[in-house]
Amino acid sequence: MLVFYAINRIMIRPIRTMTRSMLEFAEAPDDPARIIRPDAREDEIGVAERELAAMQSQLQRTLGEQKHLADLGLAVSKINHDMRNMLAAAQLMSDRLAKVMDPTAQRVAPRLVRALDRAVSYSNGVLSYGRTQEAPPARRRLRLRQLVDEVNELLGIDPDAGIEFVNAVEPDFEIDADSEQLFRVLSNLSRNAIQAMSGEQEGTLVRRLSVHADRTGTICRILVEDTGPGLPPKAREHLFTAFRGSARSGGTGLGLAIAHELVRAHGGTLELMESRGGRTVFSITIPDQPVDLDAARDALRRPA
Ligand SMILES: Nc1ncnc2c1ncn2[C@@H]1O[C@H](COP(=O)(O)OP(=O)(O)O)[C@@H](O)[C@H]1O
Ligand SMILES: [Mg+2]
Repeated sequence: MLVFYAINRIMIRPIRTMTRSMLEFAEAPDDPARIIRPDAREDEIGVAERELAAMQSQLQRTLGEQKHLADLGLAVSKINHDMRNMLAAAQLMSDRLAKVMDPTAQRVAPRLVRALDRAVSYSNGVLSYGRTQEAPPARRRLRLRQLVDEVNELLGIDPDAGIEFVNAVEPDFEIDADSEQLFRVLSNLSRNAIQAMSGEQEGTLVRRLSVHADRTGTICRILVEDTGPGLPPKAREHLFTAFRGSARSGGTGLGLAIAHELVRAHGGTLELMESRGGRTVFSITIPDQPVDLDAARDALRRPA
């Protein structure tokens, strides 16, 4: 009886208390009253209780922080949404201003239009990032060369900028990807390269953006290469981190972060291979979707 009583008191009861605390805490992890109050015991049970208490408080703090962040995100997206509408109104006015014959108006209006355009595209970028998760990629076999041509068309490179776009993808190169998402990845990378190259003053510089692709087994690799100045330190430090990596005025620092996310959703990688004055290379790898062997064999066995 005595032994049973001792074991019950020293071992079983405290373990039950801990288990109960875990279950209660799981039901309402934001309630501080549900964090276990550890005994001052020196043995293993005391250690376990203290560790559990520490873990529960840590979790509670993290949850609190996340809730604040989520609230803040919602507020930003609401402000941003209203701001975009106001900007659109201002944009309309500035377009009309640009048509006024007055010389001062003629001089300031284009600058105003440009500033508003930048603000609107910033708002759009932030809003689209704020929307919930990207849809999982809907993958099909694509002709990459054609997709790269479309990217080039959309970029609408200013013919006076002296920038050359080279599509070096073989005509029969095929890639297994979501066409809309891969299009966004390539346009983000290309637009960055063009912005970087247009920013350079020196007139005699070679300005070339080229896209190559090769395949090793089931893995496709796309190289986006430019002859621009390379990434500034700030962009390098926060590479692929949303909102932090932008080193140009009016930039959101979302382009690379979104591209990275989209490539990862394909099970692939996006890396900066090289970046110095005159040569910057981003490399995208995208593996083909794995084939379900059993299903494929079954399909072969079935009579046609
Ligand atoms: N090809 C490139 N050459 C030089 N700098 C680049 C290149 N690509 C990206 N960057 C730098 O990385 C930063 C982050 O790019 P990005 O995530 O697309 O954000 P944003 O374009 O909105 O600034 C850019 O501001 C730019 O300074
Ligand atoms: Mg960008």
